[in-house]
Amino acid sequence: MDARGVGWRSSLRRDFPPSGDLAADVDALFAAHGREKTREHVPRMAHAAVTLARWSGVDPQAARTAALLHDLGGIVAWSKITALCQSLNLPVVDEERRVPMLLHAKLSVVVARELYGIKDETILQAIRFHTTLHAQPTPLDMVIFLADKLEWDQGGIPPYYARLLSAVDGGLEAGARWFLDWMASPEARLLIPHPDLRAAWTAFGITPPK
Ligand SMILES: [Fe+2]
Ligand SMILES: [Fe+2]
Repeated sequence: MDARGVGWRSSLRRDFPPSGDLAADVDALFAAHGREKTREHVPRMAHAAVTLARWSGVDPQAARTAALLHDLGGIVAWSKITALCQSLNLPVVDEERRVPMLLHAKLSVVVARELYGIKDETILQAIRFHTTLHAQPTPLDMVIFLADKLEWDQGGIPPYYARLLSAVDGGLEAGARWFLDWMASPEARLLIPHPDLRAAWTAFGITPPK
């Protein structure tokens, strides 16, 4: 790790020391970085995650923690995120170099671990794969993935909302399969398929777009 990554982490610790109220801390972090859209998205998404967790027998506290922390990487501008991830020695794949916003989940894991002291690897994994899912998702991974899509960060109700909700009625896996399939459709207008998304498509038997 180079000086830039070290400096970024220590300035976060200095300027945003955890108070013990995770929701308030995360809210303050987004506010200080001018991330109003994400600031509004995260509590809505966390509420959906807890509801989905209770409904599907997943630990609601783990779901709440992962949900509150899932978009922390979004405090860094997309123009700077690739260099920062490299300075933190995070692996950066070609797809992430081309669409840097795909890196925000990896960066969220760093902040969750190092600023908020999250050590539970199941929570960190759910944060890490919230955008794309992956080949062998746990129920917690799927709760976070689905809550993020149901309560998206684009404002208003997502165009797929009713269809996804009805798929989720069939269980987490059915919901995840429906959304992964939607991501492969022209309607999703996907910028680039991340390798983790490709792995999820393969695992769920979904044909990737041409
Ligand atoms: Fe995200
Ligand atoms: Fe999100």
